[in-house]
Amino acid sequence: MLKDKSRKVELKVSADGSHTLFVPELDEHYHSVNGAHNEAMHVFINPALLHCQKQDLSILEIGLGTGLNAFLTYINQGQKTIHYHALEKYPLSEEASQQLNFADNTDAKPIFNRLHQLPWDSKQNLAPNFTLFKEETDLTSLVFSHKYDVVYFDAFAPDVQPEMWSQEVFQKIYDAMHPGGILTTYCAKGIVRRTMQACGFTVERLEGPKGKREMLRATKGH
Ligand SMILES: C[S@@+](CC[C@H](N)C(=O)[O-])C[C@H]1O[C@@H](n2cnc3c(N)ncnc32)[C@H](O)[C@@H]1O
Repeated sequence: MLKDKSRKVELKVSADGSHTLFVPELDEHYHSVNGAHNEAMHVFINPALLHCQKQDLSILEIGLGTGLNAFLTYINQGQKTIHYHALEKYPLSEEASQQLNFADNTDAKPIFNRLHQLPWDSKQNLAPNFTLFKEETDLTSLVFSHKYDVVYFDAFAPDVQPEMWSQEVFQKIYDAMHPGGILTTYCAKGIVRRTMQACGFTVERLEGPKGKREMLRATKGH
């Protein structure tokens, strides 16, 4: 049993061999048990990062957690310049992050370690053309002062954390996005889709990752 700043998490292996964390207090995993790496690629990297045509882009992640999405963004950065802003209310302990296997057998292990070692609450250089701003904060009370092209909306599920999926939250994210900006999430619930639409997003239902029929991609019009 590992402990982050305020709650216990257990290290688990998902179906594709990549790690995930289980939070007993919430009875919830950080990722799909059908494959954490596969889910991150399917929900965030392919339909958001690689779908976005901009070469210089600002990404918002809710929340940083294990750092898997940030790490895969680095791996799939290509020629893009990335400004990555990750929110996290419960930063992982060093003990927990050190056990994660996402970078094992890759030459990017030093980047994964650096991602977790960099200080919180200030913008840092993770790698060339990749700045990382890890902010220890609560999304529900945060007032945004940046604008984003891509949003990885990776909160715990609506039945576990309903306050993260409210119209108020999606409206402030919408308002903090550039025209043409893209938000993706693994969740495909009708209530979430309608809440996003009420904020002004155009919402597509895309094929979900393994084990899920659908996911959502929301776009802010020009
Ligand atoms: C489903 S997990 C995904 C984490 C991460 N994207 C990953 O791949 O490991 C949800 C994350 O949101 C964080 N979180 C929960 N409540 C939050 C809040 N109010 N504000 C910001 N982050 C929050 C959790 O601590 C957790 O790290």
